[in-house]
Amino acid sequence: MSNNEPQRSLATRHRLSLVFSAVLGLFVCVIFFVRLTRGHDVQLPNDSLSSSTSSSRPVSSASCAECHEEQVRRFSTAPHNNSLLRGDSPLAISRLNERSFSEASSGDTFRYLLKNNQLWLESSRHKKPLRVDWLFGSGHHASTPVTIVPTPDGQPTILQHVMSWYPDDTIGWTLGLNGDDRDQRGIHGVATPDIAQKTHECFICHCTWLPEEGGVPNLQRLIPNVTCTRCHSGARRHSENPEQNPMQSWSDLSPLESVNRCGECHRRADHMTADELVPENKLLVRFASASLVQSKCFQNQTVQNRMDCLRCHDPHETASADPLWYSSRCIECHEQALAECTSPKTNRNCINCHMPKEKMQDGLNFTDHWIRAHK
Ligand code: HEC
Ligand code: HEC
Ligand code: HEC
Ligand code: HEC
Ligand code: HEC
Ligand code: HEC
Ligand code: HEC
Repeated sequence: MSNNEPQRSLATRHRLSLVFSAVLGLFVCVIFFVRLTRGHDVQLPNDSLSSSTSSSRPVSSASCAECHEEQVRRFSTAPHNNSLLRGDSPLAISRLNERSFSEASSGDTFRYLLKNNQLWLESSRHKKPLRVDWLFGSGHHASTPVTIVPTPDGQPTILQHVMSWYPDDTIGWTLGLNGDDRDQRGIHGVATPDIAQKTHECFICHCTWLPEEGGVPNLQRLIPNVTCTRCHSGARRHSENPEQNPMQSWSDLSPLESVNRCGECHRRADHMTADELVPENKLLVRFASASLVQSKCFQNQTVQNRMDCLRCHDPHETASADPLWYSSRCIECHEQALAECTSPKTNRNCINCHMPKEKMQDGLNFTDHWIRAHK
């Protein structure tokens, strides 16, 4: 598993790799090579969160607005509410249309073009253009276009494009797919094929509801993005009669339950092996829930001073980018912080030293949520 490919690697602990000799629309044959690496299955979000694959369509976020206007308004621009875009949406088109990229070393070119209201990726690497069906990621960190191709038995599978959109409004290599060490044969020159199960997992973590018909997920009918009912279960009954059906409050959960609910997508520690939960594992930085619970701040917390994700984040909003704001959270518990901190260089910005950003590739950093003293 490549070190700069945490998303993909941990998304399937049963690392399955495949040879996929099919081009768009023309599925000739599919050969799966199942390669098992360490670890075990990533658990998908389950009923502890509102069931994302239940047969009945959940109530819409709009229906919450009647009584929770403020939350709905704040939520509209949250990354959770924009984590999956349709390929023909205006935002997808504005990000990709007429954008191109060429790799100096190989001379390869990649270009996105709008034709008949659909975006296509054209590339010197592959004769057939790939249609952009979805974009994964709000773009707050990255936004990756994918093409969906069916297997012979009709299961949708993802082709992740090697190009992604980044917040500085540029097109560049998708995390883990850049440069020389990537497989460039055939379709791999333009996109990485994923198997049906992995495709299913991608959508489950990036959507609110994914209906299935005869064992086949129906991507046309899914509700994209992580929206209200995905985190707040029992919403239908509550909306109809809030007095009779109060929502469960997150503050009734233990800190570990709370962190693990977020961890259904942000990766739970109890879904990992002991040898993965070590500071040397650079992949851990992608997995906030699994990391945070390794911290003394989490483990030794008190009832008065509760520690979970909500201490620092409001899931209805974009995360603050101000290290001093987060530092003030530290000081809520470490009142004597400046005396307590045994570093001679202590200053009010605790984050740089104790929750540093780790670079995954140019323009893509993640924050180490295992709060500790770094050497
Ligand atoms: C008809 C009005 C109404 C509708 C519609 C409604 N709610 Fe509520 N909701 C309430 C009332 C009243 C409360 C209790 C008072 C409060 O905490 O604001 C509440 C409380 C909540 C709470 C707080 C629970 C707690 O104590 O922490 C959540 C979460 C919530 N609603 C989510 C939703 C979601 C999600 C929707 C849409 C699917 C929704 N509500 C639709 C009226 C409504
Ligand atoms: C159903 C899956 C899911 C659940 C549950 C979930 N998240 Fe997320 N979260 C995501 C995805 C997907 C993104 C990436 C959004 C994007 O595309 O930028 C994200 C992004 C975030 C971000 C980054 C926001 C930013 O500004 O970049 C924070 C912080 C976050 N989640 C916190 C939480 C917390 C706290 C909880 C629990 C209360 C939670 N999440 C539960 C899927 C989930
Ligand atoms: C277990 C849940 C889960 C699965 C499975 C999953 N994601 Fe995500 N994804 C997240 C969360 C949480 C975030 C936000 C935090 C982060 O970036 O790791 C995210 C972020 C992203 C981003 C934004 C850029 C970035 O790196 O932050 C992209 C793009 C993305 N995912 C694509 C995919 C694709 C494609 C698949 C399937 C191959 C996939 N994801 C599978 C939970 C998941
Ligand atoms: C990623 C998970 C997530 C999503 C999506 C989400 N919420 Fe929440 N919501 C929470 C959590 C966690 C809390 C508890 C916040 C706290 O205790 O600080 C909460 C609290 C609330 C509350 C109680 C008042 C408050 O702000 O603390 C209301 C009302 C609410 N949410 C409504 C909504 C509505 C309406 C939507 C959709 C527009 C929504 N939520 C989307 C996780 C989520
Ligand atoms: C909810 C309260 C709380 C918050 C918020 C909090 N901590 Fe802690 N932290 C603790 C507790 C409790 C301990 C354990 C102290 C002990 O056992 O002596 C601790 C331990 C530590 C340690 C020692 C770690 C080790 O492995 O020995 C460091 C460093 C630290 N915190 C830094 C921070 C920083 C920086 C922040 C803000 C990003 C922060 N803490 C936020 C409660 C908190
Ligand atoms: C002590 C404060 C603190 C706590 C608690 C915390 N975070 Fe964060 N988180 C941060 C900081 C600081 C950043 C970096 C924000 C920035 O600079 O954009 C961040 C960023 C993120 C991001 C954006 C991607 C990244 O890595 O930069 C995600 C996703 C995230 N947090 C998820 C979570 C989840 C899930 C939890 C609970 C398990 C959690 N966080 C708990 C401080 C915290
Ligand atoms: C310049 C980097 C730096 C800054 C800034 C910094 N720390 Fe530290 N901190 C360290 C280092 C390094 C250690 C470990 C020193 C050692 O063990 O010799 C440490 C140790 C600690 C400890 C653990 C003491 C123990 O029990 O071993 C706490 C708690 C702590 N810092 C909190 C904070 C808080 C809160 C802030 C912000 C107000 C902060 N630090 C700012 C570098 C820093």
